[in-house]
Amino acid sequence: MSYQARFKVWRGDADGGGLTDFEVTVNEGEVVLDVVHRLQATAAPDLAVRWNCKAGKCGSCSAEINGRPRLLCMTRMSVFDPAETVTITPLRAFPVLRDLVTDVSYNYAKAREVPSFVPPAELGPGQYRMKQEDVNRVQEFRKCIECFLCQNTCHVVRDHEENKQAFAGPRFLMRVAELDMHPLDAAAEAGVDRRKGAREDHGLGYCNITKCCTEVCPEHIKITDNALIPLKERVVDRSYDPLVWLGNKIGRR
Ligand code: SF4
Ligand code: F3S
Ligand code: FES
Repeated sequence: MSYQARFKVWRGDADGGGLTDFEVTVNEGEVVLDVVHRLQATAAPDLAVRWNCKAGKCGSCSAEINGRPRLLCMTRMSVFDPAETVTITPLRAFPVLRDLVTDVSYNYAKAREVPSFVPPAELGPGQYRMKQEDVNRVQEFRKCIECFLCQNTCHVVRDHEENKQAFAGPRFLMRVAELDMHPLDAAAEAGVDRRKGAREDHGLGYCNITKCCTEVCPEHIKITDNALIPLKERVVDRSYDPLVWLGNKIGRR
């Protein structure tokens, strides 16, 4: 069954913009991205939107629908009342380039700040062995599609541009946690202290575990419970372990 739906779509660029009203046909089974494509094919051929897979896997089509961060391609039109007006706006935490497309380079900059996996020097390719429970623990984090919905939602940066410098955001703190939990990561031997980095370079202390990041993750990764809280515990263990404390004291003399 088809019906005519009302939409408000944010249009503009870095200099400003506003909501434009559209009325557009919606067919049974469609997602919001289908409607955006129909707008491009009819009333707004120059409407800018970023997308790629239309299958919830590339992480490109992130936007805000009725104020909630979501993937355009994974939001079914059937979740809305046909009588309601659906509002689509760009991600709020990142600068607008045009219409629904934002500049997400903050995230790439933060990704580059996390030191990469360090393979153990004594093992060659094909010799890596991990327990299944260790594989399972980090596997969850590997489901991330880098949609940056969590980054956009976390209140630490959503309304506080000034925090971006010091805070890597949930996605990249999760990456630090994943590497710190990895049994084969030899970063420490290479002089990289991931827990110190989490605290001093990536702003772990800014996270006050509100869990908004977890709520919006389309991959249902338990970012807060399985990555951020364990990372905080590991950082605290390190800071308050009496032996580590004594070692640091002696080491500094
Ligand atoms: Fe997106 Fe989830 Fe990855 Fe965050 S953790 S970037 S919300 S898939
Ligand atoms: Fe932000 Fe998630 Fe922590 S929303 S405050 S990173 S739990
Ligand atoms: Fe790839 Fe939506 S288009 S996640």
